[in-house]
Amino acid sequence: MVRKKILIIDDNVSTLKVIKAILSEEGYVVFTASNAKDALSIVQTEKINVILLDLKMPDMDGLELYKKIAQIDKKVVVIIMTAYGTIESAVNAMKLGIEDYIQKPLNYEELKITVAKIFEKINLKEELEILKGQLYGENVFENMIGKSRKMKEIFKKIINIAKVDSTVLITGESGTGKEMVAKAIHNLSNRRENKMISINLAAIPEGLQESELFGYEKGAFTGAYTKKPGKFEIADKGTIFLDEIGNINFTVQAKLLRVLEDKKIEPLGSNKSRIVDVRIISATNSDLMAEVSKGRFREDLYYRLNVISINLPPLRERKADIPLLAEFFLNEFCIKNNMEKKSLSDSAIELLLQYNWPGNIRELRNVIEEAAVVSNSEILTVEDLNINPQKNKGSTIFIGDLELSSNSSLIEIEKELIKNALIKTKGNQTQAAKLLKISRKVLLNKIKRYNISEIVQIRTKSKKMG
Ligand SMILES: Nc1ncnc2c1ncn2[C@@H]1O[C@H](COP(=O)(O)OP(=O)(O)OP(=O)(O)O)[C@@H](O)[C@H]1O
Ligand SMILES: [Mg+2]
Repeated sequence: MVRKKILIIDDNVSTLKVIKAILSEEGYVVFTASNAKDALSIVQTEKINVILLDLKMPDMDGLELYKKIAQIDKKVVVIIMTAYGTIESAVNAMKLGIEDYIQKPLNYEELKITVAKIFEKINLKEELEILKGQLYGENVFENMIGKSRKMKEIFKKIINIAKVDSTVLITGESGTGKEMVAKAIHNLSNRRENKMISINLAAIPEGLQESELFGYEKGAFTGAYTKKPGKFEIADKGTIFLDEIGNINFTVQAKLLRVLEDKKIEPLGSNKSRIVDVRIISATNSDLMAEVSKGRFREDLYYRLNVISINLPPLRERKADIPLLAEFFLNEFCIKNNMEKKSLSDSAIELLLQYNWPGNIRELRNVIEEAAVVSNSEILTVEDLNINPQKNKGSTIFIGDLELSSNSSLIEIEKELIKNALIKTKGNQTQAAKLLKISRKVLLNKIKRYNISEIVQIRTKSKKMG
């Protein structure tokens, strides 16, 4: 249970008195400070859980003070009090990591509710942390759960990678935990005091990627009324996580290469470059090498990004983790929703182990959550698990290096083989036909029938090579 200590920081002594009276009545242990110096010394000596901070202080700017507080105590939750609807500074404050804000003049009921909610959140977090520590012990690493040999190896690799500053490429199917790995690397590195900025390139239209990453100057384009720093500048001294890097625009690739080569960025509309000190971690669930061979991803960039690689195995290749993860997600869900503890029947676990989890850990979490909601009993059974038996029956088979689902139809397998041959030969039909040991004419026919040219760029004989 959390001790419920609150510190109120405000230069107005009568405000301090009133808030203290109200919150003490609610059972909290309340401290007060009317200047930054006193506030900092209380944070240093007491284990404060929640701080109510007035942004306007005489001896130090409120945000400045917040930064100092956060340096002393990373866990303390800060709520700011802003006067006269200065929402804008409140929004900026939230970006810095401030949990919430309340407006002055204070509505005391709202204040009580806000504080109560915050403590509820803190309790939940503590409970989950205890749960992880007790139940999973050495099978938890930076919030990641895993006891399979493959995951243990990944945990070890992360520790080593965190010590150096090299660029990392994380690969793995969707939902395997790539973002979690990136966070772990950052949190264990000596950049941990600074930020990790994440940017998902699949979510940003290609035309906006450059300005998002590198920023722009005032007047750089119509609508650029003020200058805006890019993610690289914001991540200075920290880490940048470039998620879904396969979606990066081709022209932006050249700029990214420049950052990697001489650590320089140039905002749009500026003719001066700036030095940034950022560690780059990128992730993808697509085969970047295939993109390289299709000419969509620069080969030089690929090698620069891929100095160290971590390949996260799909869940079906680390089955030892499945029961552990399932139990954890179930526990987590029940705690979060104030439900009685539930467990999984043996046959339910058996089914989870058989399934091939195309959506990996994310899918497992969803299946467990749904089961917990649907089931009325304490023990979840096979019937509660919404797993598609069709998908489940198929395991994977390999033809050469091609991975196929064993319940694919003959036509699907043929289609995959042809696609694969075309990718390998960079769309050259003559060579692909040779690989497949069929005539070019037959190949042409099949390409048309299966609509493959929509998926793979085809080069015909008449076109020049290169
Ligand atoms: N080892 C793990 N232990 C506990 N939870 C995990 C683990 N790995 C992943 N998760 C959870 O699974 C979900 C997916 O993880 P994450 O977002 O890191 O995957 P991803 O590989 O980045 O997926 P995508 O490719 O879809 O972006 C998250 O909810 C995450 O918390
Ligand atoms: Mg992700």
